[in-house]
Amino acid sequence: MPDAPHPVDFLVYGANGFLGSHFVRTLSADGRSTFAAPSSDILDRSAVSRDLDAYRPRWVFCAAGLSGNPNIDWFETHRQEGVRINVLATLNVVDLCHMRNVHVTILGSGLVYQYDERHPLGSGAGFKETEPPNVQDGTYIKLRILLEQLLEMYTNVLHVRICYPISSAPHAKNLLSKLLRFKEIVSVPTSVTVIDELWPILLDMCRRNLVGNFNFANPGVIENREILELYKEHVDPRIEWRCASSGPNGGVARRPFAELDVSKLLSEVGGEGISQVKEGVKKVMKSIRRPFLESD
Ligand SMILES: NC(=O)c1ccc[n+]([C@@H]2O[C@H](COP(=O)([O-])OP(=O)(O)OC[C@H]3O[C@@H](n4cnc5c(N)ncnc54)[C@H](OP(=O)(O)O)[C@@H]3O)[C@@H](O)[C@H]2O)c1
Repeated sequence: MPDAPHPVDFLVYGANGFLGSHFVRTLSADGRSTFAAPSSDILDRSAVSRDLDAYRPRWVFCAAGLSGNPNIDWFETHRQEGVRINVLATLNVVDLCHMRNVHVTILGSGLVYQYDERHPLGSGAGFKETEPPNVQDGTYIKLRILLEQLLEMYTNVLHVRICYPISSAPHAKNLLSKLLRFKEIVSVPTSVTVIDELWPILLDMCRRNLVGNFNFANPGVIENREILELYKEHVDPRIEWRCASSGPNGGVARRPFAELDVSKLLSEVGGEGISQVKEGVKKVMKSIRRPFLESD
């Protein structure tokens, strides 16, 4: 009979995905925590139960979920799959953790907001966690909002709202990889989550058992054009792009753009290690060793 798994500090779901693989790298680099990454389908409640009872984690990091292929428009033609995985299966993990008094982290979205009269583009007035979402369109966002509301029923959940995540590792879901593939970009100042910088902060937040809803982006705003300019300056001077004309909420891109107020995050974690977003993105570019390839 195979040995029973050892208890671990962290159980990571979705460890092969963009955000989950970054968390596994963060755990490895940090070195303080043991972890396991089971391959169970999180829709399978008994499989998740078995994992929790076998590994007895102190913290669960759930990066398992759907983000759409190639993008969130996919959810318009796959609504039930969206409900099944991004709501029902995620709740399985949260509920089973709650039953065992285990802390769980869920990766939400900051795209629940877009600029409006009270938070106009360029005003510096960001949306606070206490303000209701003002994006009504799109199945992906609707499901994120529904999930947020359901998570309020649980006391064991750290829910972080991520915005246009960018990192130094090429990946189809990395904002930088996406921008490099587009011939024409929409460029509107917006909040962005710099994964390289914020994932170690997130690890500490888990270890401190923080719970509740956090806007999880770097302070300030950045445009896609500025991201590509930084890439051109620090990584590959050969790149070229065109900017599409757009209104304050993206026009042709049909994506929400907004500034999130991250003062709750900064006051909770002290702000050390969290750069203004333009500085954070510049650090990402400086850490890239070779230009991203189309095949990456
Ligand atoms: N990327 C973003 O911009 C963004 C922003 C905010 C929030 N999020 C959310 O964060 C989560 C992860 O996003 P990501 O960008 O890292 O996506 P990703 O690269 O597609 O990774 C998703 C991971 O979840 C796994 N998965 C999917 N369904 C599963 C299931 N039923 N049971 C177990 N594992 C399952 C996938 O496993 P396989 O590899 O086996 O398919 C994959 O490892 C998603 O819920 C997404 O909505 C993403």
